[in-house]
Amino acid sequence: MKVLITGGTGYIGSHTIIEMIETETFTPICIDSCERSTPETIDRMEKITGIRVPFYQENICNKNAFFRIFEEHKDIVGIIHFAAFKSVPESVEKPLEYYRNNLQSLENVLEACLKYNIPNLIFSSSCSIYGEVERLPVNENTPMGIPFCPYAHTKQIGEEMIRFFTQVNPQFNAVLLRYFNPVGAHSSGMNGELSPDKPNNLMPIITQVGIGKMEKLTVFGTDYNTRDGSCIRDYVHVSDIADAHVKAMQFLIEKRNSTNCEVFNLGSGNGISVLEMLHAFEEITGVKLNYKLGARRAGDVPAVYSDSTRAEKLLNWQCKRTLADMVGSAWEWEKRLGD
Ligand code: UD1
Repeated sequence: MKVLITGGTGYIGSHTIIEMIETETFTPICIDSCERSTPETIDRMEKITGIRVPFYQENICNKNAFFRIFEEHKDIVGIIHFAAFKSVPESVEKPLEYYRNNLQSLENVLEACLKYNIPNLIFSSSCSIYGEVERLPVNENTPMGIPFCPYAHTKQIGEEMIRFFTQVNPQFNAVLLRYFNPVGAHSSGMNGELSPDKPNNLMPIITQVGIGKMEKLTVFGTDYNTRDGSCIRDYVHVSDIADAHVKAMQFLIEKRNSTNCEVFNLGSGNGISVLEMLHAFEEITGVKLNYKLGARRAGDVPAVYSDSTRAEKLLNWQCKRTLADMVGSAWEWEKRLGD
């Protein structure tokens, strides 16, 4: 069964393609503009799986180029839509770029579903849609909060676009996956996150400081109302997140969904503070980190972690990898990048 993966050379997209190939029931096709990734990821996925994925280096905002894929492959059964910008601080600085890129691309995906009669869609959403919450952990009934940044807002709008779309088009089925904080790398050590020169996310910053590519890291905020004053997040291994996409696509194809727009949290359920993560890295790798305590970062919420019972029950999904797997694999990947 052919499944189109948008953003397939990105961090979560590439790990998902690897997991999909390993099922031997899905044939992934990849589209990515490679604005924030590299076509070499296709080679890396081939080395790991032995399969070269059909690849289109195009931007899905370019409707003509995007729709050509469906003309060439008439038998696509589903789309997993990853392609989006995802940096919280960048979205605060460049809101219009985020609205344009993240929403125009989704509109094209939905139009393609309609025009080419693609019945199944999985959408990359984010725990950031919950905003600042009063009760933790959050589950899928926790209402969307006030968005803290344009990135989170594009995910809220994206979810609503899909909800309204599936309401009037009952022949389509969607799963919205709300990721918490994906980290780590593939167990082969051959695929992982390719961050921009100046990464924004905590784990690549930790590993870059660890290896000496970056001089030091700043803990953004130590005066939050949390156990040690730093922000609390729910880190989850990227291969566990990838596995959830395979399970969600199987769930839709086997028509196990009870509504045509289902939503699942994907987190480990463990809240870890920034300071705890730094110390876990130091303990697991034996590498000391050069860090300082600093001011809060715009767009951050104090704490968020997941109740993922729904995904466990309905998708039969669990986090199989531990914090040591997350940190250890991220570190192995960083060392390999340096080779
Ligand atoms: C946010 C979203 C998440 C999304 C991700 C995409 C929330 C709650 N989560 O993650 O859903 O998938 O963006 O990028 O909005 N930190 C430091 N120093 C640094 C870098 C980060 O202290 O140099 C801290 C941040 O303040 C934050 C934590 O580390 O508390 C994690 O940050 P990051 O990895 O950027 O992810 P989020 O912003 O939590």
